[in-house]
Amino acid sequence: MHVLPRRSLLAACLSAGVMPSGARAESDVGASALNARARRKGLFFGSAVSDEHLKGDPALLARVDAEAGIVVGEASFKWADLHPEADRYDYGRADALLAWANARRIRVRGHTLVWHEGNPDWLEPSLNAANAEKLLTGHIKNVATHFAGKLQHWDVVNEVLQPDDNQPLALRQTLWLKALGPAYIDIAFHATKAADPSALRVINEFGTDYAMPWQERRRVALLALLADLLRRGVPVQAVGLQAHLDAGETTLDQKVLSRFIAEIAGMGLKIIVTELDVRDQRLPANVASRDTAVADHARAWLDAVLPNPAVLGVLSWGLSDRRSWLNDKFARADKLAQRALPLDVDLNRKKLWFAIAGAIDAAPARPTSS
Ligand code: XIL
Repeated sequence: MHVLPRRSLLAACLSAGVMPSGARAESDVGASALNARARRKGLFFGSAVSDEHLKGDPALLARVDAEAGIVVGEASFKWADLHPEADRYDYGRADALLAWANARRIRVRGHTLVWHEGNPDWLEPSLNAANAEKLLTGHIKNVATHFAGKLQHWDVVNEVLQPDDNQPLALRQTLWLKALGPAYIDIAFHATKAADPSALRVINEFGTDYAMPWQERRRVALLALLADLLRRGVPVQAVGLQAHLDAGETTLDQKVLSRFIAEIAGMGLKIIVTELDVRDQRLPANVASRDTAVADHARAWLDAVLPNPAVLGVLSWGLSDRRSWLNDKFARADKLAQRALPLDVDLNRKKLWFAIAGAIDAAPARPTSS
């Protein structure tokens, strides 16, 4: 919990004349910033922060400080970063983000304990059916114990579904599924709970946003997996919807989306929008029309999701177009940078920022603050 409300903190800094370098005055961004608006509704807003920004972009960090109530490391909590060699853990980058956030009373979420990507080179070749459970629980125990009590959420497993792989429960064929079968998910959730009972345990997933058939299969698969996990007493508590949206996609159906959210909520689970961004590589270059399309698209998606009281908050996968993974993974043919995030490269608010603010303002207030 925030010990001191962010507004008071900024006010205290102002009156003491010690604004953090690059930070804007409260009248400029503080009171109207996304997390301030979200808090008024019992929600939170936050953003991913990359290590490169943490080390070298104080202007961007000042804006994260102003807009975000929670941050997540873009890479610093992934296995490759934390556990680079079989017998060595490296908490340097993750601890640096935690220290930065703690100094500003910003919360931190952990992403992610188990994933088929972001792993160190040593892991897969050394994994076999005999040692896999020990390796998995060893990593989770070490990492979740290191951060115990300091993280708001843990993405315990990330992107476990891939219906096209034709595996049980539509699970993705991964190093862990091969070694342990579907039980790897159970093992991961139990191990996380044992090491850090206080972080909300999340199953994080992508590709459930649109009405098209392959995403419908993923929604059905996720609901079935959740029912199965809960029936077996696996301590999953929330679903993370990555929300890597595509402004060129025409199959956004708010009814389908809100029904899906309601089904998750009906199982007693919370929902977090974990990685919001809006790619635009299918749109023409014109900046004004791209920005409008991106904003309208995000607003339509958020308007279907935020009204459900099980939704706790929203994080974007970066705050500014200065850096987005989309420019690597979904590069535009014309090589222009994607305009996927709330602030532009000069850290000015874009239409997407106003769309997120508008969706938050339109959401019903939650009975209790998250
Ligand atoms: C991405 C990061 O943004 C990149 O910098 C990194 O190289 C690869 O991972 N879904 C996820 C995130 O769960 O961890 C991914 O982050 C983006 C897609």
